[in-house]
Amino acid sequence: MDLVFATNNNHKLIEARQVLGGNHKILSLNDINCDIEIPEDFDTLEENATQKAQFIHNKFGFNCFADDTGLEVYALNMKPGVFSARYAGIDCNSQNNIKKLLQELKSSNNRKARFRTIITLILEKEILSFEGIVNGKIIEEFRGKEGFGYDPVFIPEGYNQTFAEMPPSLKNNISHRANALNKLSKFLSLHY
Ligand code: IMP
Repeated sequence: MDLVFATNNNHKLIEARQVLGGNHKILSLNDINCDIEIPEDFDTLEENATQKAQFIHNKFGFNCFADDTGLEVYALNMKPGVFSARYAGIDCNSQNNIKKLLQELKSSNNRKARFRTIITLILEKEILSFEGIVNGKIIEEFRGKEGFGYDPVFIPEGYNQTFAEMPPSLKNNISHRANALNKLSKFLSLHY
């Protein structure tokens, strides 16, 4: 079936197509000529993902899904969480966000963190959510050039490389989003 993924983030699209692309056609916002800034103004990942999916469904009528992700750091009471994109301020980039994170963790021995993704699917008016988590730790310096966001400082449990040092195909197999996408894929294969 055709499913719109409410994103233009190329990394996310590649991940989604890697998991779902064999059985479904995954369209981006560009593919449906949507250049509107989709609102994302709630305080939880769940509400933001649902808001984004509902926005696309109401405006364009497509079956669709949207994701929202946060980096949750244990020593920072699970912050930045839903505010991960604008941790260092509204106009800041990933490098600024990482610098702030490393500064906040400077005096902490507890480097434990996780990425958590919520995907909300709207299919024939039904609304469903899928959660994906990857546990790991925050290292003290930037390592690697792949990926995006906090990838250069996040090492997933069981590995020695940051997400940004791994081949994208490996990250896309084990990531928080891959976990949520696999649940979505399983749901679709059982019901459609
Ligand atoms: P989004 O709203 O789902 O795009 O995620 C919010 C922020 O979390 C992004 O701006 C990134 O900083 C971070 N983020 C999301 N997914 C990833 C990832 O796979 N790796 C690293 N950072 C990520």
